[in-house]
Amino acid sequence: MENIPRVLQDAPAHIGIIMDGNGRWAKQRGLVRTQGHLEGLKAAKRITQAASDLGIKYLTLYTFSTENWKRTAEEVSFIMGLIRQYLRSELDFSRRNKIRVRLAGDINGLPEEVQKDLNQTVSDTKEFKGMQVILAVNYGGRDEIVRAMRRFAYDKCASGGCSTVCDTINNIREDDISAFLDNPDIPDPDLIIRSAGEYRTSNFLLWEGAYSELYISQKYWPDWEKEDLNTAIAEFKKRDRRYGGTASDAA
Ligand code: FPP
Repeated sequence: MENIPRVLQDAPAHIGIIMDGNGRWAKQRGLVRTQGHLEGLKAAKRITQAASDLGIKYLTLYTFSTENWKRTAEEVSFIMGLIRQYLRSELDFSRRNKIRVRLAGDINGLPEEVQKDLNQTVSDTKEFKGMQVILAVNYGGRDEIVRAMRRFAYDKCASGGCSTVCDTINNIREDDISAFLDNPDIPDPDLIIRSAGEYRTSNFLLWEGAYSELYISQKYWPDWEKEDLNTAIAEFKKRDRRYGGTASDAA
């Protein structure tokens, strides 16, 4: 009996992925970093297809963080170009698989042509009822919480709900912040996957990921195949999620 997991989870409804290791993948092969990102894009397409085939409902891809601006202008511009390439090349795929593309992050901080393409894809796919792919672009978990609090305060002031700033802050509840996040209707991620062996969340879905199960893979992101996703999900299904309570088989 001891080897039988205590709880068998259903498949995760929402998976978030920190796609790490593109640069190391390239370096290992004596290639430039941008080549790693190009292969990373191919992996993102493979894993999106695999997740859709498995019936995953939400897939959040950490595509560009608020900290990624620290990279060289050349690398940043290459990644921006890849995002546009992804949007264009995946439109047929999205139509076939009824994939709805959504966004997380401060989109206003992106170059105009990237904003335009992102907004166009969101609009082109908004009626699709298949998997939802959330592209986290210019995304930071702390930044999202700050933006949510600003929206909350603005909403309260505009509706006359609080007469002073102190009142607003005194009355704030967790649900108020959740309601003003980038995608309040999307359930919290059940599983967060990180490739390339680092044991940290790097400002990804800080609020939403409070009780996400973490799966760290040693493989660099460009090497990811659908079998790796299957393995991560199989591992997730063995986890006993307690949300701060007691074990499911506790007396
Ligand atoms: C992390 O690897 C990867 C990124 C910061 C960029 C992620 C972008 C892609 C995978 C391509 C675009 C994808 C989509 C969905 C449009 P790293 O450069 O930090 O690798 P390293 O830690 O080995 O240097």
